[in-house]
Amino acid sequence: MSTAITGIAELVTNDERFNGELGIVTDAAVVLDGGRVTWVGHASQAPPADEQIDVGGRAVIPGFVDSHTHLVFAGDRAEEFEARMAGRPYDGGGIAGTVAATRAASDEQLRANLARLVGEMRAQGTTAVEVKGGYGLDVENEVRALRLAREVTEDVTYLGAHVVPPEFSGRERDYVDLVTGPMLTACAPHARWIDVFCEPASPTAFDGDASREILLAGQRAGLGLRVHGNQLSEGPGVRLAVELGAASVDHCTHLSAADVDALATGTTVATLLPTIEFSTRSPYPDARRLLEAGAMLALATDCNPGSGYSSSMPLAIALAVREMRMTPAEALAAANLGGAQALQRDDVGHLRPGARADLTVLDAPSYRHLAYRPGVPLARALEVT
Ligand code: NIG
Ligand code: FE
Repeated sequence: MSTAITGIAELVTNDERFNGELGIVTDAAVVLDGGRVTWVGHASQAPPADEQIDVGGRAVIPGFVDSHTHLVFAGDRAEEFEARMAGRPYDGGGIAGTVAATRAASDEQLRANLARLVGEMRAQGTTAVEVKGGYGLDVENEVRALRLAREVTEDVTYLGAHVVPPEFSGRERDYVDLVTGPMLTACAPHARWIDVFCEPASPTAFDGDASREILLAGQRAGLGLRVHGNQLSEGPGVRLAVELGAASVDHCTHLSAADVDALATGTTVATLLPTIEFSTRSPYPDARRLLEAGAMLALATDCNPGSGYSSSMPLAIALAVREMRMTPAEALAAANLGGAQALQRDDVGHLRPGARADLTVLDAPSYRHLAYRPGVPLARALEVT
């Protein structure tokens, strides 16, 4: 059964056949059928449809693609956040606390928390999400995290190499053997991606050599590559990601000239996570330098209980515009099309015919209001039954 979405004052398609960098159509309609977009254009030319939903003069955009989240966990770290706001730096040390809480939780508790967060995201306009493990850090608990993540998304990421867990303290070599051996074998069937926290400045994360070994093992097991890189320091993560052809390197907070050159010439998307800089009170990444060099950018939330517990893509957009000097159009494109590129998906992030029927409605006449009205709940995923 087909459904026509009408009354769209401004439609962002990310289709270059329409106007400007966002492919905008005014006074638009979209027809959906079988969970796909089948027609897009001016309302006056819309073909007949079985049903109609009138959005009453609102703006409609492709749903946000949040390409970096850690949603399988138990507990929270509000006290760590409070201490950070009082001056304590973030170094990833608190991850061990979430690992202990996650191991102790039942499947039902983890599933309920995951569903709550995915619901929170949809209510703010996110229609596609990547979900990482990384709070189990033993074979059984990493497999469990990926199985649960697979219940909500195809973009599941194996992150056994989040940090070295406390029981392996001082035995990083043994832990890398586990992550690249039995844990990888058990996890690979449940994942599309492998990720590593490559950060020499964190006492518990991985250096460039260990990260390379872990990523190459994942690649041999058929997984696509993602990297947490250059969050706390100018480490080797960005160049390693580009060299190995990773889909995305995420954070990119501290970049050398060589890192920027690598991102400008390679195929790896630079995913920026400004809610993390907000929540760790860190300097924001230099988005303009990356854009001017010609790098591909995505915006994501990195929603997790430690470095930043926001599920809000609109907040990421507002911070990208206000703090990182991205234009409202650049920020929106990075939040949907950029996320899709970071996940190497061509069915989401745009509203060309054939796309998944993932529409987000704004309680506003234009996409510009996402950054113009920060903190106001304007965006919601359109529910089509
Ligand atoms: O992307 N940097 C590493 N991992 C997460 C934080 C996880 C945590 O603090 O619990 C991040 O910021
Ligand atoms: Fe992360």
